[in-house]
Amino acid sequence: MKNHLGYFLFLLLITSCTPPAPPPADEGATDEQTWWKEGILYQIYPQSFKDSDGDGFGDFRGVLEKLDYVESLGVTMVWMNPFFASPLVDNGYDVADYRAIHPRYGTMADFQAMLDGFHERGIKFVLDVVVNHSSDQHAWFQASRSSRANPYRDYYHWWPAEKGEPPYRFSFFDPEGAWEYDSLSNAYYLHTFAAAQPDLNWENPKVRQEVYDIMKFWAEKGVDGFRMDAFQYASKDTTWPEFPEGHEREVIKWYGMRPQLHDYLKELYREVIAPYGVFAVAEGAGSTFQDAHDLVDADRQELQTAYHFDYVSMAKTPDGYALADFKDVFTRWDSAFAEKGWLAIFLSNHDNSRLVNRYGNPSPAFRIPSTQMLHTFLLSMRGTPYTYYGDEIGMTNIDMPNIEEYVDVAAKGEYRAALAAEEDLDEFMRLLNYRSRENSRTPMQWDTTYQAGFTTGDPWKKVNANHQSINVAAQDQDPASILNHFRAMTKVRRENPVLVYGRYELIQREHPDIYAFTRSWEGDKMLVLLNFSDAPASIELNAMAGFENIVINYYPSLQTDGPRLSLEPYQAVICKIE
Ligand code: NOJ
Repeated sequence: MKNHLGYFLFLLLITSCTPPAPPPADEGATDEQTWWKEGILYQIYPQSFKDSDGDGFGDFRGVLEKLDYVESLGVTMVWMNPFFASPLVDNGYDVADYRAIHPRYGTMADFQAMLDGFHERGIKFVLDVVVNHSSDQHAWFQASRSSRANPYRDYYHWWPAEKGEPPYRFSFFDPEGAWEYDSLSNAYYLHTFAAAQPDLNWENPKVRQEVYDIMKFWAEKGVDGFRMDAFQYASKDTTWPEFPEGHEREVIKWYGMRPQLHDYLKELYREVIAPYGVFAVAEGAGSTFQDAHDLVDADRQELQTAYHFDYVSMAKTPDGYALADFKDVFTRWDSAFAEKGWLAIFLSNHDNSRLVNRYGNPSPAFRIPSTQMLHTFLLSMRGTPYTYYGDEIGMTNIDMPNIEEYVDVAAKGEYRAALAAEEDLDEFMRLLNYRSRENSRTPMQWDTTYQAGFTTGDPWKKVNANHQSINVAAQDQDPASILNHFRAMTKVRRENPVLVYGRYELIQREHPDIYAFTRSWEGDKMLVLLNFSDAPASIELNAMAGFENIVINYYPSLQTDGPRLSLEPYQAVICKIE
């Protein structure tokens, strides 16, 4: 017989957890406790968040209008993508002046007002630092390319053409490779990303000092942290060995994370991180756990945290992913950092398609619970959780079947590569439409008014037509909405340090549908149950333990039948247990 129980349940709970080792007395406590470990981060893509002046681009004044909204989410940190002077070849990841703001976003006074507004609300601000490369329009590069004798020549990497063509090297955005010929000085320059993003030469101490000065400039304005873009590529083997064919995807292993990176980071720590009391997170964590530890272990005094991409590649096609792989990735990384070091975790950002399309179920019946389930997961794991704007209301991908609609430099590069390789272009477009990062850059859906309330003008990017049903206004007052679930989850995380610092233990790894784990810390214990399936699923929990209470459950009830607990499709439950 089935019982439908709400709060204060008793049921049978399993002990067949992996790993089985008994918890140590100080279980889960890794290094010291700090605000950036306890933080809950919200990522704002500034051109798509809120436009205050009708030019179609989001701006700082728009963010100012929405500060109360951001505070209402219960987040404690904001990371904003680049807003510096830039020709915008890669939407601002090509910086022409690191101390100037692109006029589309406003003025330095607007920036300061926005920063103060976040601080008044107890929200820390993380700046995007893009210093593996600059824009080709940066004054440094303009000087560098002007002649081989220019004092800025060795701010970048050059290969003189009289030596012949440089050895092939992979570029993320350019199918022709990472060297670009420049006739002005008859030489090739290196660009790991687009040709408009030449790589800075970190071997040059002057370049490093320039970067530290830029970071100090922003630290003095009051920013609290830095996100180091593409930083694993800053150190290179400048003997330029041939890229081994077939290993293009192992680009970090072959050409990133050289030993001198750690010297640079130690220097950066001494110059900026320690004196200003800020923190830094690396985009990318190398290719091994050892690499990752070498970046973030506190006693090494380099970076404070990093995020890896292991789970990103598993959801690159509409065919979905295996829950077993998903569990394994998170469990492996958690155990590698169980005693030491700290990671940031995310499931979506501006470089991937939308959260619900990749890891959840965007169909009308399941969009809401599957998004709620994913937020429950992210906000109950160890590691600082990063949530991307719009995912808190379950925004979805946008349909863009034609390459002509794409503005993204990455998408265009991939298309050129597909053309050159004579790939099946229909299939290529089907996949691009699903996984392109254009999907996650559409304007924020505030309400059902003109352009979803994002702008009074023409938006730089098409607003998703589904804003009529998916928007902040509709969800704000609805207790059952994704938005209010997200707020409930941030509250639970803020109020329960066990979800921040607690030891993670996976339960029943082999369960095909349910991801179950516990978090334990200083006598507190929480059980997290997540049904990743679009059908009901049950789990048998063999050992007796009592729920003190259910802290999260967005379904009206929870079904138990003896030792068996049943979850509705995409139901997630968090309970305090003994
Ligand atoms: C990583 C950023 O997240 C991405 O958006 C950008 O295109 C590359 N780095 C190059 O800066």
